[in-house]
Amino acid sequence: MLEEEAKLIHRCIAGVKNKTILNIGSSDEKFYKKDQPHIWKYIMEPLIRNNNKLINFDKKKAKGVDVIGDATTMIRGTYDIILFCNCIEHIKSPFIKLINNLYNALNDDGVLIISAPGVYPIHKDPIDNEMRFPNIKRWVSLFEFYEDKFKIIEYCQTKEMEAPVRYGFREMVYSSIVKCVKNKKLLTTSHQQLFETDYLLLKLKEIEKKDKSDQNVLKSIKLVRLKLDVDGILSVKLMLKNKTKIKGRTDSASLFYKKILGVIRQSGALFKEMK
Ligand SMILES: C[S@@+](CC[C@H](N)C(=O)[O-])C[C@H]1O[C@@H](n2cnc3c(N)ncnc32)[C@H](O)[C@@H]1O
Repeated sequence: MLEEEAKLIHRCIAGVKNKTILNIGSSDEKFYKKDQPHIWKYIMEPLIRNNNKLINFDKKKAKGVDVIGDATTMIRGTYDIILFCNCIEHIKSPFIKLINNLYNALNDDGVLIISAPGVYPIHKDPIDNEMRFPNIKRWVSLFEFYEDKFKIIEYCQTKEMEAPVRYGFREMVYSSIVKCVKNKKLLTTSHQQLFETDYLLLKLKEIEKKDKSDQNVLKSIKLVRLKLDVDGILSVKLMLKNKTKIKGRTDSASLFYKKILGVIRQSGALFKEMK
């Protein structure tokens, strides 16, 4: 897990207290304390400090793994939160069984947090099925494919950085994270909005091509974070080429699209610049 990814997940679990959390694909103590101490620092230690019961679940038997099991075969019990970080790309099918297991192992108002590489070199543990999640669309299509069991309520991705030197070549990598709830707790906003928000980026880029006056600002707009509140309000943060981050909230993706265009054109009436 990248350090920035651990910090983003830290934000996703901020304020969680007295819950039972299953950490699937936790790896062992050496990995999460020594090799990648940011996992301990930003995720595990804060959860334990806040009186949560953290259960580490992994396929391999090792120190620091509480339950040895295969997520595609069986997950016993039910949990308030399931963390499933950088494991999906190491799973052997059948995926339908995995998604069903995750669904059944989550309490009705539980939260599933999944992270995975957006772009990353092949790394076997024990296999690499080459699944990558470069954007929110990819996550939405995963869930749609497997019967829409989960609804995404938050999406974020890390900044791009150079791959660790052990891979022997220079590749820019990043991670992608979704926070989900069981789809039976359907919120007012449909999946379509998520698509539209993604579509928004394409649209803005198209406009950039046509409208020369916007060219300097619009060159590389990136989706930084997307969140769907329980009341159905969609919040989106975008980063412009000049590293300015802009954010907005709306209950309608098409309205949001109009607002954001306005903000980029007039530099800022409706949206605040973030620190
Ligand atoms: C790359 S590590 C991820 C460690 C940590 N969660 C992180 O985000 O950095 C992937 C872990 O998933 C475990 N794993 C792979 N397939 C699994 C399965 N079917 N069920 C449970 N764990 C699995 C591997 O043993 C390994 O420890």
